[in-house]
Amino acid sequence: MSMKPRFVDPFTPNRPIDDPDRFFGRVDPVNEMIDSLFQIKNGNPKHTIVTGDRGVGKSSLLTQIYLTAVGNNSLTDRLKIDRGVEQYDYVTVWHDVDATQTAFDLSFAILGKFESSFKKFVSGFTLEIDVAGFGKLGRDKQNPLNITQLIEEFVQRIKKVSAAAEKNKKDGVLIFIDELDRIRQDSMISSFFKLTSERLAREDVKKVGFICAGITGAVQKLEEEHASILRTFRDVPLPRFEQEETAQILLDGFNKACHKCTMQNLPLKAQGVTVGLPEPIHLLGSEMLSVDSDGELDEVDFENAIKKIVTDVRRNKLASLLRLAGSGKYQKIIEAMANCSEKIVPLEFIAKSISQEQSQFSTNMATLVDREIIFKPAIGKYAFADPMLKEYIKINGVLALDE
Ligand SMILES: Nc1ncnc2c1ncn2[C@@H]1O[C@H](COP(=O)(O)OP(=O)(O)O)[C@@H](O)[C@H]1O
Ligand SMILES: [Mg+2]
Repeated sequence: MSMKPRFVDPFTPNRPIDDPDRFFGRVDPVNEMIDSLFQIKNGNPKHTIVTGDRGVGKSSLLTQIYLTAVGNNSLTDRLKIDRGVEQYDYVTVWHDVDATQTAFDLSFAILGKFESSFKKFVSGFTLEIDVAGFGKLGRDKQNPLNITQLIEEFVQRIKKVSAAAEKNKKDGVLIFIDELDRIRQDSMISSFFKLTSERLAREDVKKVGFICAGITGAVQKLEEEHASILRTFRDVPLPRFEQEETAQILLDGFNKACHKCTMQNLPLKAQGVTVGLPEPIHLLGSEMLSVDSDGELDEVDFENAIKKIVTDVRRNKLASLLRLAGSGKYQKIIEAMANCSEKIVPLEFIAKSISQEQSQFSTNMATLVDREIIFKPAIGKYAFADPMLKEYIKINGVLALDE
């Protein structure tokens, strides 16, 4: 048996794109976010929140903006985007939210990161903002810190960070917050952002910006509870990729790995199973390269890659998603959606397939959205949150239908 030469897998389904040269498209969102960097540097704070579906590329975009903010010009040069300055030189922190965090936990974590990482931006400079003192404020569970005090204490410390940045001739201070959708609904986070940004402006601290990302539906949910987060932030929605872009990402990767692709219908087929989400696009590309044996990618490799994804690579994840959907009627709905030839399934189609009036299962649909099994791209239309679930069901079927 002849072995094909070893190569580096150009696809990274499990982590955000950090190499600016592997970051595909997104000229408009990048341009909009670079504008925020420019405005903040010039004392006109513009906070942004990147929103989109899971796996659409929010963390990747945030990573690219982060790199630009600390002086890496690769992406903006390649996209020919006017930075407005030769190079950015911000003091930054990055925080991934976790599900248990309140507004206090979030601000405590941010301050801690500034204190410990400031040296990285200005060597030999020690930033003192009494993070320990801030931490003590939140310790009394009987007597929780109220939001007014929290903002006061947080803003005074951020003011010091900003002054230290200014003193060291930095462009300003950026706070990157990813996975904002994970935050609890009672975390007070929307009020926190609104009040913090207002307070910073009033204190004349204008070179501090928040740059966040979160899943669309979950961010809207935060909206319902509290002050409008989308009024404080400029929303940068990230769309899924178009068919031709999907194909381009795959072909770029194949090319990088020195493989040929002979599939004429690659754009159509790939868009069908990935719905233009870069996460499954990378997964598909990676597995097509892995199942291929002759350096030439064809339809057999495509089918085998899908099979490998649903029976091996992602089997456990997809099986547990299917269980999470619920039993009985839920499985019927899921099965109907998987049988639809369209990726975005009209409610009427489901009603017809399961022989029920829409009103008889509309709460089930809402529950499936809540469980993040499906999402609602438009009124009366539904799609699988993980498009590979559809492929899984086509091969394995749904769970037993008896209630
Ligand atoms: N602009 C892009 N070009 C190429 N690949 C991308 C792009 N954006 C995201 N990806 C890929 O898609 C996958 C999911 O991206 P990620 O940024 O983690 O999404 P999200 O944070 O929205 O869940 C990653 O594997 C990443 O490599
Ligand atoms: Mg992410």
